[in-house]
Amino acid sequence: MIKQSNNKLILKLPDGRESSILIGESIENLSNCLNSEKVFILTNPNISDLYSDYFPKNAKVITMPAGEANKNLNTVLDTVRQLIAAEADRKSVIVGFGGGIVCDMTGFIASIYMRGTKFGFVPTTLMAQVDASVGGKNGVNCDGYKNMIGVFNQPDFVLCDPKTLKTLPEREFKAGMAEVIKCGLIVDGSFFAYIEDNIDAILKQDKDMIYVIVNKSVEIKANIVKADEKETGERKKLNLGHTFGHAIEKHSNNTLLHGEAVSVGLVIAAKISELLNLITSEDFVRIKNVLQKTGLPVATDISPANLLEAIGKDKKRESDAVHFVLNSGIGNSEIREMSFDKLAILLKKALETL
Ligand SMILES: NC(=O)c1ccc[n+]([C@@H]2O[C@H](COP(=O)([O-])OP(=O)(O)OC[C@H]3O[C@@H](n4cnc5c(N)ncnc54)[C@H](O)[C@@H]3O)[C@@H](O)[C@H]2O)c1
Ligand SMILES: [Zn+2]
Repeated sequence: MIKQSNNKLILKLPDGRESSILIGESIENLSNCLNSEKVFILTNPNISDLYSDYFPKNAKVITMPAGEANKNLNTVLDTVRQLIAAEADRKSVIVGFGGGIVCDMTGFIASIYMRGTKFGFVPTTLMAQVDASVGGKNGVNCDGYKNMIGVFNQPDFVLCDPKTLKTLPEREFKAGMAEVIKCGLIVDGSFFAYIEDNIDAILKQDKDMIYVIVNKSVEIKANIVKADEKETGERKKLNLGHTFGHAIEKHSNNTLLHGEAVSVGLVIAAKISELLNLITSEDFVRIKNVLQKTGLPVATDISPANLLEAIGKDKKRESDAVHFVLNSGIGNSEIREMSFDKLAILLKKALETL
């Protein structure tokens, strides 16, 4: 059940655990979330330069190198060694202060360090606030394959402060918008319309609107996660745009951010949905337009063969079929098990008519 009081969402999981998500809370109040003498902040040098004044005074700070290429077991091992040297123990609280990479790695490290310590996140990118910090997926990449090693484990708290987004490069903010738009597309047509109507003010980071979009996206994701924490059914809907998004990201030689690749993936999924008569051509245009107005890419020149080859290696692929998420009207979606061959035909058609 999700209880909402002001800006605090409490995610109650079937096993009785709770995760508090504070939205619109100030990083000045981080100490209120920490009920331990021993606090470790895991971050990266960029964030530390900008925000070290907000780290609790008693905290030990460990920096991890930034970038997707460093989201791996070497960084995990290096960080664990620093935790051992600093005598972190099971009563310690480990806080990931940064973007999705910091959060993904912190959640993983805290889950395995001495078989698990308490942990929380202060997500500082839009992507991390609306997506990476919510839902309990933590992990690292292996040999270029994303998130191959990881665990499901919910943080004790997540503190989202909108002012941290002010220092974020514009491109990163826009990339996060792809996940926000995805949330509207999956389950909430009126939220999608709100984004359409207010996109200019959102991009200028109007304070109230940032609060609305973060709050709503987190609520949507948390609602889906509490019903299907381990992604056996409904949670797969959060992968809308991600089947091809991941493939595009992999083939872009690091020129595209995750959210940018997802934007193209959302357009492809919408076109395939149109081809299957699940949405109208007007719906398709609305989806493409809002992504375009956000300043996100809406097309790719990567060949269908290369995209399909990448999907073949996607861990989400089960046997010869793919669980593909389709739009079904705006604000509704469905998961369809599709043979790889059928998806190949639809992809080719979709790319010809984007
Ligand atoms: N666990 C999940 O459910 C989940 C969901 C979505 C994404 N992710 C993962 O998240 C990662 C992407 O996260 P991201 O998009 O936040 O990228 P990121 O963590 O790399 O952050 C982007 C860049 O912005 C910098 N930065 C962060 N906050 C800043 C701020 N407030 N001001 C200035 N600069 C700042 C970072 O140092 C980095 O250089 C990927 O590895 C992805 O797989 C995980
Ligand atoms: Zn994503």
